This record gives sequence, C-alpha cells and structure tokens, in this order.
Amino acid sequence: MKLCVALDLPTIKENLDLAKTLKSEDIWLKVGLRSYIRDGKYLLEELKSINSNFKLFLDLKIYDIPNTMADAAESMSNLGVDMFNLHASSGKKAMSMVMDRLSEIENPPIVLAVTALTSFDEVSFREIYGDSIDKKATKFASEAYESGLNGVVCSIFESQLIKNNTTENFLTLTPGIRPFGESTDDQQRVANLATAKKEMPDFIVVGRPIYQSSDPLGVTKKILENL
Ligand code: C5P
Repeated sequence: MKLCVALDLPTIKENLDLAKTLKSEDIWLKVGLRSYIRDGKYLLEELKSINSNFKLFLDLKIYDIPNTMADAAESMSNLGVDMFNLHASSGKKAMSMVMDRLSEIENPPIVLAVTALTSFDEVSFREIYGDSIDKKATKFASEAYESGLNGVVCSIFESQLIKNNTTENFLTLTPGIRPFGESTDDQQRVANLATAKKEMPDFIVVGRPIYQSSDPLGVTKKILENL
C-alpha cells in the first residue's frame, strides 16, 4: 500500500515547501485541479527537481467526448506524470479510446477511473446516478476493467468489492482517509488507517490531515510506519 499526499495548498510556494519537507519519504504526490490550473507543468517539473523519485499523480478527473479525452490523455502522458485519472461515467467508448491512444506510447502512465466521489452520501449520489453507491461503483469499475484501465478511484468501502468483481491486481486508490480519526471535513465516506488497512487498497490519499497539521513530516512518517 502506497501513500499519496494531496498537494492542495493555496500557493505554489506552500505546495513546494510541503514537498521539500517530505522529500526523503517514499511517497506519491497528487496534483489536483487547483494546483494544476494555477501552476501547470512548471509545478510538476519543480516537484521532480526536489526529488526525482517522487511519483506524480495528476488528478484532473477528465470527462469529455472520447476523442477529446484521448487527446488529453496523450497530453498528460507527455507531461511525464506516473498516473492520471478520468471519470468512469464518461463511458466505455471514451475509456477504450484513451487506452488505445496510450498503447502507442512507451511507458504510459497508470490510468484510473473515478467511480463515486467520496464526498457523496447515498442520498446525494442516488439523486444524480439513480442507484446505490456500491452497485454503481462496482458497475463503473467493471466497465473500466473491460476498457483496459489499470484501476479505479473509490472509497475504502468499495475497494475489496471491486477487486472481487475484477481481479486483485486491478488497482484501487482510496481518498477520504483520516489516518488517526482527524476531522472529516467535506468527506462523507471516510475511514481511519486501521480500517483502511483491512480493505487493502493499493493507494491511500491523504490531504488535509497532513498539510493542515503543525507537523506534516511527523504525521507522514507515522502513517508510513503504520501502513
Ligand atoms: O484533504 P483530503 O484528504 O480530504 O483530500 C482528498 C483528496 O482526494 C482531494 O485532493 C480530493 O480532490 C481528492 N479526491 C477525493 N475523492 C475522490 C477523488 C479524489 O477526495 N473520489
């Protein structure tokens, strides 16, 4: 299980300072919408220059028509990121087209499909998707698997279910982790580290519990020791 730290801070300086603080740790760094829209490719290059072993996950959750998604996937691959994601609800045609396009690239990044955002509760999810989270997340995951993707983003509560429905090797990345019972913030389906470990996801994502802490390095080390 790998730890992926979300770089969701308000300025590039704060994101880079956090990366410098964590530079000796064996972690992935997640660059999301806020940071990428603001600081783009420059941020990715700066992160790699802090530690070339940092693995980068570009979390832009793309959703568009198939051809536009394949073009975007190719552009993301050219940025040299190690992993990116798209929305499974964009459909099998779009997902397959993305994977076809990446098959032409040497060392393509890992591609994950977002199933259900961890900020949804059952009621608000059903209003949009017309089904329960576990049913729909499992269906989205099967479609992503059939389309050749490497795994999914899901809540910790669907991780094993999805692996049982696909294969153990189909990756799961689970946000909404509050390692030692910190504030849930806007997340709905959260779990602590002890629960997360039982569900065996391949990656856990932790943002605010690390970067809002007075000792980000201490919290990171404690999580890594407990993985
Ligand atoms: O601060 P926190 O630990 O809640 O951060 C979780 C990160 O994971 C955020 O960057 C959020 O955008 C991202 N994420 C999520 N739920 C998903 C997919 C991504 O919370 N389903």
